[in-house]
Formats: sequence, structure tokens, C-alpha cells
Amino acid sequence: MEEALQTYILEMRGITKRFPGVLALHDVSLSVRPSTVHVLIGENGAGKSTLMNILSGSYSIDEGEVYFKGRQLDHMDTKATLQTGISMIRQELSPVPAMTVAENIFLGREPMHGPFQMFVDFDKMYADTQKLLDGLGLKLSGRAVMSELSIASQQLIEITKAISRDASLIIMDEPTSAISDREVIRITIECNPPERHLQKFRVRGSVGRHSSYIGLKIKSMPISF
Ligand SMILES: Nc1ncnc2c1ncn2[C@@H]1O[C@H](COP(=O)(O)OP(=O)(O)OP(=O)(O)O)[C@@H](O)[C@H]1O
Ligand SMILES: [Mg+2]
Repeated sequence: MEEALQTYILEMRGITKRFPGVLALHDVSLSVRPSTVHVLIGENGAGKSTLMNILSGSYSIDEGEVYFKGRQLDHMDTKATLQTGISMIRQELSPVPAMTVAENIFLGREPMHGPFQMFVDFDKMYADTQKLLDGLGLKLSGRAVMSELSIASQQLIEITKAISRDASLIIMDEPTSAISDREVIRITIECNPPERHLQKFRVRGSVGRHSSYIGLKIKSMPISF
């Protein structure tokens, strides 16, 4: 393993991606150290989402190399490998409106109990959810139905969901693009203060989680860097 790679959790080198008739990315490189915060800035169509979609395994690469946790990834196994350590919050939210906050956070990985682990352990699911929400300083209930929450609060749940997966790298692709400025301000207040939210990432990093964080919109992160 090259020495430089040991200090980066992620290295993308010379990434090129073409769509029919469009060169979306040309020779793009990005390096991320553990427990750091990065913001990608670029005009509409610059290729920010494409680069992050490559990272989350949604798109393949035409040229370039990706190293994650010191290991070079084959283009073929990018998705499988990265899914274990990367959480992406996409531009378009996809909550299940009729389900509760806890059911959304644990969708597809519900804690089970009983004979042959056949039944969802709702008590544990709601207790774990409340612990997560309280830990992030969010004044929301795990028992609330998603459709009854504001878009801003639903976004906070998406962020909580990403964090709950214990990802090493959390990507937020303009998570507030569908939210009004007023609601962005509300997110700031709900995070109370937002620095505390960021501090969580730092603290988790310092005790070994090494979470890093890439955001794609400055307005969505009312934090000073
Ligand atoms: N699935 C796709 N098929 C074809 N072209 C695509 C696809 N996804 C992205 N593109 C094109 O690739 C280029 C980069 O788009 P991308 O969405 O990555 O930009 P962006 O920087 O995220 O823009 P925005 O700020 O508007 O979100 C654009 O020209 C876009 O039209
Ligand atoms: Mg985009």
C-alpha cells in the first residue's frame, strides 16, 4: 500500500465519466482524510452528483482509480465494497410517508426477536431511534408518522439514518435543495447549535469511527469551516 493512501480514507484519481453525448467528468481527483469535512462546489451540470454517484456505487467509471480505506476497488466491486462504508443522502428524498420515523430509519434492517428472529423488535427499534435522535440533539419523536413532519424534519431523519449506519463517509447531495430558506434556518435551530451536530462527527471520528463528510451545497450547512 502506498504511504499516502494510508492517510486518506478515500482517494479518487483521474476519474472520467461519459454519458451518451456528454463528458460529465474529465480527469477528476478527490482525496478525503478521516474525520474531515469537504464541500464540493460547482455550477449546475458540473458533475458533482455524478462523482458522488460513482462513490455510492450507482455509476461505473470509464477511466480512473478509486481507493477506499487503502484498498483499490475494481470497477466491478465498487458498489459492494462501498456500500459497507458510505452513506449517501440524495438530492431527491425517498421517505415512506405512511411509516413512522423509526420504521424509516431502520427500513430493511429492523432489529428482530422471538423464535427464529421472526418478529420485529419494535421496543428496541423505538428505543434505539430515540437514542439516536436525542444524541444528535433533535427534538423529534421516533413514533411520529413521516408524512406529518415538515420537509426539513424529514431531511433531518434522512441525516439521522445515514449516521445510524455507522458509515465512514457520509455524502449529502444538496439535501436542502427542496427546502425553503426559512426551513433551512429551522434546521439550524433544531440542530441547536449546528456546530454541535458537526462536533458529533468529529467526536465519533476521534474515538475511532473516522467519519468524514462531503456536502454539496454550502447553504445546506450553516457551519463555519
Ligand atoms: N444518468 C445520466 N444520463 C445522462 N447524462 C447524465 C446523467 N447524469 C448526469 N448527466 C449529465 O452529466 C453532467 C453532470 O451532471 P451532474 O448531475 O453530475 O451535475 P451537478 O454538478 O450535480 O449539477 P447540479 O448542481 O444541477 O445538481 C450533466 O451534463 C448531466 O446532464
Ligand atoms: Mg447534482
